Amino acid sequence: MSYDIAADIQRLKREKDAVILAHYYEDGDIQDIADHVGDSFFLAKMGQKVEQKVILLAGVVFMAESVKILNPTKTVLVPDLEASCSLVKGAPYERYLDWRRKHRDGIAVTYINSSAEVKSISDVIITSSNAEQIVGAIPKDRKILFGPDQHLGRWLSKKMPDRQFEFWPGACEVHVLFNAKRLYELILQHPDAVVIAHPECDDSVLQHASVIGSTSRLLEEVQKNPAKKFIVATETGIFHQMQKLRPDVELIQAPVLDAGCSCNNCPYMKMNNMEKIKHALETLQPQVGLEEALRVKAQVSLDRMMDITSGKAVQWPQEFSL
Ligand code: 13P
Ligand code: SF4
Repeated sequence: MSYDIAADIQRLKREKDAVILAHYYEDGDIQDIADHVGDSFFLAKMGQKVEQKVILLAGVVFMAESVKILNPTKTVLVPDLEASCSLVKGAPYERYLDWRRKHRDGIAVTYINSSAEVKSISDVIITSSNAEQIVGAIPKDRKILFGPDQHLGRWLSKKMPDRQFEFWPGACEVHVLFNAKRLYELILQHPDAVVIAHPECDDSVLQHASVIGSTSRLLEEVQKNPAKKFIVATETGIFHQMQKLRPDVELIQAPVLDAGCSCNNCPYMKMNNMEKIKHALETLQPQVGLEEALRVKAQVSLDRMMDITSGKAVQWPQEFSL
């Protein structure tokens, strides 16, 4: 009989009082052993309310850090501490701090794809599923410092033309590779396909999409739209849930410039595998550890996100004072 690693992981979950939260970009086998699968906002919320002592976040490190910031008494595991994100790497603390100091009167609206240090000098955190609601809660006369994803920011600014934005020049190394010219050629070959895209894509790609949204929004579209064919401009891991929900549809990956490369896989998400998850549950390592002073500062901006999305009023600082 072949070795069943999934059964081992299920046993370890029970023995260690652990829950597995997974992002849609993980491989299908990981999504299938997870207790909850979702977008980054969903994972942060779920991390706040699960009862188990141990939370294994099968995703990237900023997702696990967000859970630890919001729920510090839990042991938070991540299968690989090297699983970063190009947006995190492209927004180092010192440079972000300089940027903030240049615009002291602005409100720093920071994408959850950022380090705990950057969150600690931000006013509010957003994800692609709540960005519009959160920016809408900021007084109209305040300038928005939006980082680190400029494409998500520019998409948002088009939807909110009455707001003044400054953008940090960061990008997702996966989503920027989708190519508008090749996408256009593909659309001509498949005129019956619905084009759906994540807002981390460049505007030239987004212009071809009829639905733009977070991973959960794109999944919802595939579930509800009666169309039989979709061109999908986001990471390939999400195909697993899309195909589970709609086995009857054809899903076509949006093209990148280099037809031979598999660069629409997120190299950080794909660092995780079943062996690393099993090892993390066995050893309760690697854990996400944060200095308490940093955690407390970073929690302020995440709490504002949670408060606004649950309908509570929030206060905004008049000026950045660090
Ligand atoms: P979602 O919040 O839409 O899941 O996006 C997370 C992410 O990293 C996209 O690249
Ligand atoms: Fe970061 Fe892009 Fe990977 Fe998402 S897909 S985790 S934004 S590198």
